[in-house]
Formats: sequence, structure tokens, C-alpha cells
Amino acid sequence: MRQQRKQIGLAVVGCGTIGRIRAEFARDYPGIGWLGLCDSNAEVGQKLAEDARADFFTTDYNELLKRPEVTAAIIATDENAHVGPLLAACERRLDLFIEKPLATDARTRRGYSRRSRKRGSTP
Ligand SMILES: NC(=O)c1ccc[n+]([C@@H]2O[C@H](COP(=O)([O-])OP(=O)(O)OC[C@H]3O[C@@H](n4cnc5c(N)ncnc54)[C@H](O)[C@@H]3O)[C@@H](O)[C@H]2O)c1
Repeated sequence: MRQQRKQIGLAVVGCGTIGRIRAEFARDYPGIGWLGLCDSNAEVGQKLAEDARADFFTTDYNELLKRPEVTAAIIATDENAHVGPLLAACERRLDLFIEKPLATDARTRRGYSRRSRKRGSTP
């Protein structure tokens, strides 16, 4: 008997060059059952939401990452804005793909490592 595969509810935070590539591939991937997008620039985000036929769009990453459909997240904001969404995703214990670099300074990087380890994930 074939087992039913679990569908992924994917959140993509950051809808620029890389977020667009990730979201468009995700839309075509059969394992993705739900696609939600976030960009602080509403115009950029809404354009991608239309192009990738996203199920949800917001300019607030907390709103997206709290959605019950979301099981995994890609953090594709520009490098100075990774930490906020990254910690919010750790808080929810989501599976994560983070674009490089993890953080732009050692202190932020260490703070992230400490907080994510407390929540049982390894950076
Ligand atoms: N461009 C490349 O070739 C490339 C290749 C590999 C990895 N990366 C990495 O991918 C990441 C994204 O790069 P990019 O070229 O797509 O950048 P980009 O500037 O094209 O896109 C970043 C997007 O993030 C949005 N954003 C910023 N802060 C936000 C926030 N708090 N909440 C929601 N959205 C926010 C911006 O409005 C922008 O649309 C970077 O970390 C970069 O280093 C880039």
C-alpha cells in the first residue's frame, strides 16, 4: 500500500531576486501543498504572489510564519534582515532554508545560535 506523502506548507520571506526563484520553483513542485509569501515591499511581493499563484501574501513576516498551514520557511530577505524572520521561524520550529549569510556580524550570529539551540535546532 502506498503511503500518503505529507504536503509542505511553504513560507517564503523576501520576494526579491532569490525569493522569486524559490517561489516559482516551489509552485511547480508537487510536494508543496500551500505557498505563502511575505515582502516588506508590498508592490514587489504582490507581483510575485500573482506570478507564482501564491495562496497568501502579507508584508508582515510574523503574520505569515504564524499561519497554521506553514510547515517550512525559506528566508530570502536581504542579508541585513535575516535575523528577525529566522528567529520567528525557529520559535515555531519550522524546517528552514536560510540564504547566506546567516547574519552580518558575529554578535548577531552568536545570539541566533544560542536562541536556536534552546529551541532544539542547529544553525
Ligand atoms: N542575488 C544572488 O545572486 C544571490 C545568490 C545567492 C544568495 N543570495 C542571498 O539571498 C538573499 C536575498 O538576495 P536577493 O538578491 O534576492 O535580494 P533582493 O534585495 O533582491 O531581495 C530581498 C527582498 O527582501 C525584502 N525584505 C527586506 N527586509 C524584509 C523584511 N523584514 N520582511 C520581508 N521582506 C523583507 C526586500 O523588500 C526585497 O524585496 C541574500 O541573503 C543574498 O545574499 C543572493
